[in-house]
Amino acid sequence: MPQTNAHPGSALETCGLSLVYGSGETAVTALDGVDFAVSAGEVLALMGPSGSGKTSLLMILGCLLRPSSGEVWVEGRAIANLPDRDLGRLRLQRMGFIFQSYNLFPALTAAENVQVALELKGRDLNDAAGLLERVGLGKRLHNFPRQLSGGEKQRVAIARALAGDPPILLADEPTAALDSTNGRAVVNLLCELAHEQGRAVVVVTHDPRVGDLADRVVRIEDGRLCS
Ligand SMILES: Nc1ncnc2c1ncn2[C@@H]1O[C@H](COP(=O)(O)OP(=O)(O)OP(=O)(O)O)[C@@H](O)[C@H]1O
Ligand SMILES: [Mg+2]
Repeated sequence: MPQTNAHPGSALETCGLSLVYGSGETAVTALDGVDFAVSAGEVLALMGPSGSGKTSLLMILGCLLRPSSGEVWVEGRAIANLPDRDLGRLRLQRMGFIFQSYNLFPALTAAENVQVALELKGRDLNDAAGLLERVGLGKRLHNFPRQLSGGEKQRVAIARALAGDPPILLADEPTAALDSTNGRAVVNLLCELAHEQGRAVVVVTHDPRVGDLADRVVRIEDGRLCS
């Protein structure tokens, strides 16, 4: 009998999630009984010390890693038994990812970086201009990453994450490489994307600015949620 989720309206939910890397004497328990939920329209900041399990949890929420035990629901759908191919399709269609180091292709312009994601998702490549305008970069379409500031690069990465209009955004330390003005602009943008467009946004961060602006802060220590 499959488990049922406690919060059927959640964008993402987990129950009893555990993750052990390796085995035997070198095994590391990265997550230990994590019950977690985030709703559409909500910005959730996941905070905790280095090594506490933040990236591991984000990777499981993003269907990039399977847990050792426990269940994950994506928009109410249990994914434990989904084959890898279906999981990949779910990730592509329903999720966008943002990373600390932007992960842009240096030899491609801002527009081309966004087009790579549109192509992967089978969307119209002409959408790139609109997405870059949405993040305030309508005048930087043809700039290469080296011609952009850190904050602008991160906004290109957010535009890329928005390709295909995913309802779930997952960000791992998106402001860690930015000064306070650019960091705040990126967090404000993520908040707008949640509040005005109803996306669920999970932001892993050490940055108190993100915690201050998020709708909810969840703390993790030693693989366990503590609030
Ligand atoms: N691929 C791996 N193999 C073995 N252990 C790992 C692996 N990835 C992470 N770990 C361990 O799992 C635990 C959680 O790591 P994780 O990367 O999730 O932490 P984090 O909270 O994101 O840390 P940071 O803030 O430094 O990014 C740590 O003890 C880490 O050493
Ligand atoms: Mg991490």
